[in-house]
Amino acid sequence: MLNWKIRSDIVAETNSSFDEIYLQYINTLNSPETGFFHLPKNQELLQQTKIVFEKFNQKKHFIHIGIGGSALGPEMLIKSLGCKTDVDFIFLNNIDPDDFHRQLKNVNLRDSLIYVVSKSGTTAETVAAMSILISLLKKVGISEDQFKNYFVFCTDPTKGDLRKIAEMWNITTLSVPSNIGGRFSVLTPVALLPVMFAGLNAEKLLEGAGNIQNILSSKKEGESFFNLAYWIKDLHDKGISQTVVMPYSSLLKEFSPWFVQLWAESLGKEGKGLTPIPAYGATDQHSQMQLFMEGPRDKALFLIEVKKFNVDYSLENNVPSSAFKLLSPFSLATLMKAEFEGTLKALEENKRHVVHFSIPELNENTLGQLILFSECLTCLVGILLKVDPFNQPGVEAGKKYAYEWLKSHS
Ligand code: PA5
Repeated sequence: MLNWKIRSDIVAETNSSFDEIYLQYINTLNSPETGFFHLPKNQELLQQTKIVFEKFNQKKHFIHIGIGGSALGPEMLIKSLGCKTDVDFIFLNNIDPDDFHRQLKNVNLRDSLIYVVSKSGTTAETVAAMSILISLLKKVGISEDQFKNYFVFCTDPTKGDLRKIAEMWNITTLSVPSNIGGRFSVLTPVALLPVMFAGLNAEKLLEGAGNIQNILSSKKEGESFFNLAYWIKDLHDKGISQTVVMPYSSLLKEFSPWFVQLWAESLGKEGKGLTPIPAYGATDQHSQMQLFMEGPRDKALFLIEVKKFNVDYSLENNVPSSAFKLLSPFSLATLMKAEFEGTLKALEENKRHVVHFSIPELNENTLGQLILFSECLTCLVGILLKVDPFNQPGVEAGKKYAYEWLKSHS
């Protein structure tokens, strides 16, 4: 199971407000307006995704179009757990023409499935990418009446432009439930379809999230979870408002940007918020760690340890040099452990605020746990900070001005 322990001289405890906060949190999890907590048990979405997978599973390239919550979750899952099939994944999650060229130049579109993910169906970056793919399909002789063999959409169940386009071209669609926002949508078809194409086990992912539901919702079993949220709020109020998320794993490197979006977009509003900083060990020990260790005392560090790697390498060697000799009796995974423990100890000695997370190993089940844990923690910290974790009013103005700019230049 996912485990965590706070290592800090600031005490983590709920306070007299807890009963009221708990009620608000549970009501939020069970509210018809907030669906993410119940996704682990949602068989219907899983079955619908399977049907779509079976229809298109001969495809060799999976082109995922989306941005923000419509892209970060799927990308995190595929890159963390790896692709176990021959399918080639392409993530068009930005509007950089050079990146498009690099990623698409060797793709056989006739062998591709283009998965367009957009809850609203109007996001400019996604619309732009889809427009380009439409032109490219036409260029290789694929006409609109054949688009149904190349596109799948994932969007709001009833609303939005993608629904209308789907009807027009008879495109297969999957749904992001209307009560689940982008950054809370990773356990929906948004990511379940790419997970299936990668040969990963979608059931185990949901099962993992389900395994931790009780800890995240029961007053008794969730004591340390609730204490953690109160500790984070306490730190925030003391000006310790940056959160470093640092898995000691290259494969979990993509977990950090996913967490960053969840934490930043959900909590950063009304002058409050916790600035997330992505990092990964051991690599960032030779980069950002100096700052974390001796820089301003405004950070909490979430260090994530993977207890057991799937493979390991012996470091045994007979090179006549002291650094080589020191490592020779050990393995690569043991060196990672030593660096993790060493950094933890040094951070503690420097009176830095650390949460030591650990998972027994990296797989669908443990990643499912980490996902639901992060989403529930974000929701609860949002309630404690008295902000709405499910909206993002601050990104609207930039979008509006970008459209105005386009109009004034057309
Ligand atoms: O988390 C969110 O709600 C956002 O990051 C959205 O996912 C992002 O803006 C993309 O929106 P859409 O899915 O409507 O294209």
